Amino acid sequence: MENGKKKIILSGIQPTGQLTIGNYIGAMKNFVRLQNDYETLYMVVDLHALTVPQDPKELRHKTLSVIAQYIAVGLDPDKNNLFIQSHVTGHTELTWILGCLTGLGELSRMTQFKDKSSKPGASINAGLFTYPILMASDILLYNADFVPVGEDQKQHVELTRDIAVKFNYRYSDTFTVPEPIIPKSGARIMDLQNPLAKMSKSDTGGTGRIALIDDPNIVAKRIKSAVTDSGMEIKFSEGDEKAGIRNLLTIYSNLTDTPVSELEDKYIGKGYGDFKKDLADIVVEKLTPIRNKHDDLMKNKDYLETVLRKGASAAQDKAWRMLSKVYRKVGLVQASR
Ligand code: TYM
Repeated sequence: MENGKKKIILSGIQPTGQLTIGNYIGAMKNFVRLQNDYETLYMVVDLHALTVPQDPKELRHKTLSVIAQYIAVGLDPDKNNLFIQSHVTGHTELTWILGCLTGLGELSRMTQFKDKSSKPGASINAGLFTYPILMASDILLYNADFVPVGEDQKQHVELTRDIAVKFNYRYSDTFTVPEPIIPKSGARIMDLQNPLAKMSKSDTGGTGRIALIDDPNIVAKRIKSAVTDSGMEIKFSEGDEKAGIRNLLTIYSNLTDTPVSELEDKYIGKGYGDFKKDLADIVVEKLTPIRNKHDDLMKNKDYLETVLRKGASAAQDKAWRMLSKVYRKVGLVQASR
């Protein structure tokens, strides 16, 4: 805290696919941890989701479901600003201004764009390319000091920093230059069937991922059939061959807040089968209350709407303040209201 004012945390999740334990361990766990000591803004970034084709009805459902999952994992709507990106108009407006400061070269270097656009049959639209500018706007609009994210978003936060520095240099000090908060362990949870690839909420197939709201039988089955290797020892060692067991140890460690070394000691003399069985129980035990709370909340849309109205109204006030400052600085004539 500086001068009695809390520092600002902001993050967002796309309502595409089903949120996974990767999203939880890499990002949401930090959202929950940080809620008491910071001013926090957590969004569902529905506009980002439009960069790939979405079924409109499903998108609406998933957007509300992510809000319900925010609450279900422990975010208190009275302590946090929980809102939907498209409910605050400033995000897209600031995107235009920042887009005029961002080089095509900078956008072309984004690995996520390169990965997504190189997939066979990918529909590459302008939104997919300019998406990091929208993310920069999300962050800079609220003067966020810190941005809790998983590893894969680090490069986007770095671009955000570059854009902020560029704007501040050209037009005088305006934006806070944000820093990412990336967990030391669990910043990149891997796919259970292909532990060399990131666990993703939107890849098709899905047997290698665990969703926060999956059925417990499916969860247990997926952990038990996770790809490991022909070894015997439960050890966190380097090398591609050990990626499967390394990933499972990381999941176990993060869900139980136990250091990996303690887990290695605990499983001396035991095999992968025992370890996976215990881990399956742990994941099911962790997710069951989240799933139940999510399901209850989804039956109470009025409550979710109240939370969203409050979140959007507070965010919109902040966004307008920043946007009018930015418009003035870049030389736009102020509209009389
Ligand atoms: P998204 O929706 O892909 O992912 C949400 C968050 O989960 C993290 N994450 C993971 N962490 C560990 N292991 C994994 N396998 C894994 N998969 C995903 C992501 O790093 C992210 O923190 N562009 C962002 C959303 C966004 C945003 C923002 C984030 C839009 N505006 C402003 C922060 C601030 C995205 O697509 O995340």
